[in-house]
Amino acid sequence: MRLLILGFLTSCLLFSCDPPPKLVVSNTELFVDSVFDDHSYSNLKEIYTTHLDLELDVSFQNKTIYGVARHTMKNNGSDTAIFDIKGLKIQKITLGAKNSERETDFVIGNMDNDSVLGQPLLVSVDKKTTKINIYYQTSENSDALGWLDSNLTSSKSKPFLFTQGQAILTRTWIPTQDSPSNRITYKAKVKVPKDLMAVMSAKNSKKLNKEGIYEFEMNKAIPSYLISLAVGDLVYHPFSKSSGVYCEPQLLGAASKEFIDLPKMIGAAEKLYGKYQWEQYDLLVLPYSFPFGGMENPMLTFVNPTVIAGDKSLVSVVAHELAHSWSGNLVTNRTWNDFWLNEGFTVYFEERIMEELYGKEVSDILASIERYDLENELDRIKNSTFPEDSRLFLELKKRNPDDAMTAVAYVKGAFFLKTIEQKVGRQRFDQFLNSYFKNFAFKTVNSKMFVGFLEKNLLKPNQIKFNYNEWIYEQGLPSNCIKINSGRLNRMKDFALNYSKGIDVFAPKIKYRYLKIKGKKKRKKFIEQIKRNDFIVQEWQTFIHSLPENIGKSKLQKLDAYFSFKTSGNAEIMTDWFILGIKNNYGELNSDIKKFLGKVGRRKYLLPIYETMLNNNKTKALAIEIFEKNKKNYHSVTKNSIEALIKN
Ligand code: BES
Ligand code: ZN
Repeated sequence: MRLLILGFLTSCLLFSCDPPPKLVVSNTELFVDSVFDDHSYSNLKEIYTTHLDLELDVSFQNKTIYGVARHTMKNNGSDTAIFDIKGLKIQKITLGAKNSERETDFVIGNMDNDSVLGQPLLVSVDKKTTKINIYYQTSENSDALGWLDSNLTSSKSKPFLFTQGQAILTRTWIPTQDSPSNRITYKAKVKVPKDLMAVMSAKNSKKLNKEGIYEFEMNKAIPSYLISLAVGDLVYHPFSKSSGVYCEPQLLGAASKEFIDLPKMIGAAEKLYGKYQWEQYDLLVLPYSFPFGGMENPMLTFVNPTVIAGDKSLVSVVAHELAHSWSGNLVTNRTWNDFWLNEGFTVYFEERIMEELYGKEVSDILASIERYDLENELDRIKNSTFPEDSRLFLELKKRNPDDAMTAVAYVKGAFFLKTIEQKVGRQRFDQFLNSYFKNFAFKTVNSKMFVGFLEKNLLKPNQIKFNYNEWIYEQGLPSNCIKINSGRLNRMKDFALNYSKGIDVFAPKIKYRYLKIKGKKKRKKFIEQIKRNDFIVQEWQTFIHSLPENIGKSKLQKLDAYFSFKTSGNAEIMTDWFILGIKNNYGELNSDIKKFLGKVGRRKYLLPIYETMLNNNKTKALAIEIFEKNKKNYHSVTKNSIEALIKN
């Protein structure tokens, strides 16, 4: 093995001191090529991957992936290729085509920012090298990997593995030049236990392979954060020729009902912004510990089972991930500082899809809920260490991009686009977006490029002035931000106001109905009462948000008696309800909270629940106890965020 760990003066050893090493690796700064990306060590200008062939052997027994990553490079004459790695053990590196390989020297930098970025892997190459093969294995520090024991799955009998690459975690399971600015195609050959199925963000098999060997191909160039893999007891249900859902057999009935509108969603999206470019669009329902609601892995969106609410009330998550097939996957943020170009566009697009399918009233309701989240986020950011995080364009050098991925990118981003739309008119804006997706298809884009394109193709030709610099580069929400008004939500706010004043707006009401029986008019008494299903989830969320923070336990108990929020089975409602309950020392919720935190791993829910518990002396110890018990079951993305909360 030709591994040399780089420290201070070891650089001399690297290339045998003849010729003297060009690189002294003791400081991250020297490495990070800011022209491209603050979060990758790779020297993309000199040499970059164009295609990746993966050979992976997945061992559930050792919770380890043994791999070979065969990179095909475009080499502009460099004698060193730099990759990103974190938590990987590198066995050897060879150059040349498979079977005619020769081993080469490599070095792993010992960097000061490695808890975020990991290390640069420097590989000695020839100026003409185009094939680099990295033999490696993952470790318990491979943060992308979610290894789930069978008790965390629906079957309770077979284990599960999933990967999460975004933002900078692909380097923890594949040695890559892990920057969204570089696009690659890939193929993979994956060996898994014979009773489990493997799927990737690529063309997938619909059936179990008896040998446990799966081959994949993604022949459109994608950024490294979109390479993904899942292995588990999976079955497939098609909705159409080109769309369907993978899930554990136990979830098949529920999943196939919940997502039945998928072909319609794809149709609506195509009508808006052009042909779907990825051939197939499938969903994969993961176990509950998946840290996100959804992740837009190309051809195969990953979704959290909490999205299966039973009444399609949370399918906007699917509309969102589908929208990423254009904004994000087709046109990709060049760096994580430009994250809003992925998420802001996607939230805008998601709401347009929802409007097409379910009407403007529903999409306005979604936008109002998001606006509420944004206001809270802006308040939090204003008083935080990084008030500049309320700008759309972020400056994340030396920071973990994950820490600044907030509602600002999503909602301020979407409201920015909605505000432009209102100013120029929908027709012109849609034309502009169509040309944006066409122009930058399979490319990457940063904020400056977007502004240039906006000026040239929308604002100038229509002689329109717009304060885009304020939106993108300044803090807070500009005053021209459009307002959303929803009559249905106003009604819920009124309910909340009256209920908090002590008026029992939900009490059963005695009513009379007049019926004609045998020619005689008869008065019939009946009881009218509002039921949980009379309003959609987002209406109830608005109701809960509009109750005073200190409403008092007894009023909450009464609401639970009417509507059973605490056991509603809808994770959005339960999260909001738990938070309000904790603030009001509604201790009867504790056992339900415990159950929820022991089952679900979606960070969006867990973080605010834990935070509220930690801020209340009556629930602080319980929060820590629950976390200690469950942390081994949370994905690193969720676990690390909660750990940071507990430490602060
Ligand atoms: N791409 C994101 C998830 C993500 C963001 C992972 C940043 C890692 C880093 C995904 O599309 C997303 O936004 N998911 C949301 C869904 C929602 C906004 C409908 C989620 O999981 O909450
Ligand atoms: Zn998204």
